[in-house]
Amino acid sequence: MELKADQEKIIKQLITQEEMLSKLYGHFSEQFPEYSKFWNQLSKEEHRHARLIQKLFDAANRGKIFFDEGKITTYTLNAFISRLEQILHKAMKNEYDIKTALGCAMDYENSLIEKNIFTHFDSSSDNVKRTLNILHSETITHRESIRKVQQTIAGNG
Ligand SMILES: [Fe+2]
Repeated sequence: MELKADQEKIIKQLITQEEMLSKLYGHFSEQFPEYSKFWNQLSKEEHRHARLIQKLFDAANRGKIFFDEGKITTYTLNAFISRLEQILHKAMKNEYDIKTALGCAMDYENSLIEKNIFTHFDSSSDNVKRTLNILHSETITHRESIRKVQQTIAGNG
């Protein structure tokens, strides 16, 4: 099955989104040396997510994967991405302190979970299923690790 043009666009938007998150977290790792390890880990994982989604895209083109866009539209994802662009723009100017940086990351990871983006893919291939599980579960883990740091900071404040 060939990907419909819209589905193709959505998957590309998902890749862009992961790359932007990786860039954002990478910036925070430099801006906040005290939490550098934490942000760097997130940044690396987002980069890996982008590569994993690229693989899904290739699998979809080979007919190995089924993608049901459901309520996800290119419009929704455009809105997500422009919000992320604004965050990134502010971040590059160091407009966030550690608290607001964590808040932004948390909001964004939450919206990804709420959209349940990776449950829109399905496949008969175990390999693809494993990849989808990684993407979904690591998004949840991100939220948990961000919350832990938020709690540490609240405890210190
Ligand atoms: Fe991700």
